[in-house]
Amino acid sequence: MHELCSMRPEDVPEVLELWRSTPGVGLSRSDEPSELERFFERNPGTSFVLRENGKVVGAVLGGWDGRRGYIHHLAVSPECRGKGYGRLLVERVLREFKKMGVLKVHIFVYRQNTDAIGFYRRLGWYWRDELGMMSLDLDREEGERE
Ligand SMILES: CC(C)(COP(=O)(O)OP(=O)(O)OC[C@H]1O[C@@H](n2cnc3c(N)ncnc32)[C@H](O)[C@@H]1OP(=O)(O)O)[C@@H](O)C(=O)NCCC(=O)NCCS
Repeated sequence: MHELCSMRPEDVPEVLELWRSTPGVGLSRSDEPSELERFFERNPGTSFVLRENGKVVGAVLGGWDGRRGYIHHLAVSPECRGKGYGRLLVERVLREFKKMGVLKVHIFVYRQNTDAIGFYRRLGWYWRDELGMMSLDLDREEGERE
């Protein structure tokens, strides 16, 4: 039996275990429990955890910056893949985004993660060949930046 619920700070230790053991999910300082708590405060009700017999088997973060929606860290544990759980998690986030009037949603995905790309394509998402990504670390002094 599975249960899909909004992600709460209490879920984070188990969810981090899932993410840490999932290739394709890249963790950073923003995934410290205190940072995730700030994320939930800023984005209430758009991140979800899926449990099967009480055990976390899937998780996803959804966030909206006021312009675009973003989905981060979608993961389903290997033994539970292929049962529609990934779709369920994504569709649940999208349902909330639609209620909020979000017009477009992005994900960041490693280019070599062909499974995730195949999965998202199946759900109707499209690859943006014309776009790349640039980043700047605001938590480092200028001299420390790569
Ligand atoms: C990507 C992931 C979440 C998919 O989860 P899942 O529960 O196995 O996916 P679902 O069973 O919900 O599949 C939904 C649909 O996508 C299809 N699909 C799943 N994986 C696919 C793949 N690799 N290629 C093409 N289609 C795929 C399924 O056949 C299904 O199609 P249908 O609904 O028309 O029958 C899971 O493989 C995973 O956790 N991967 C590792 C983490 C990761 O890479 N996350 C993405 C970070 S961007």
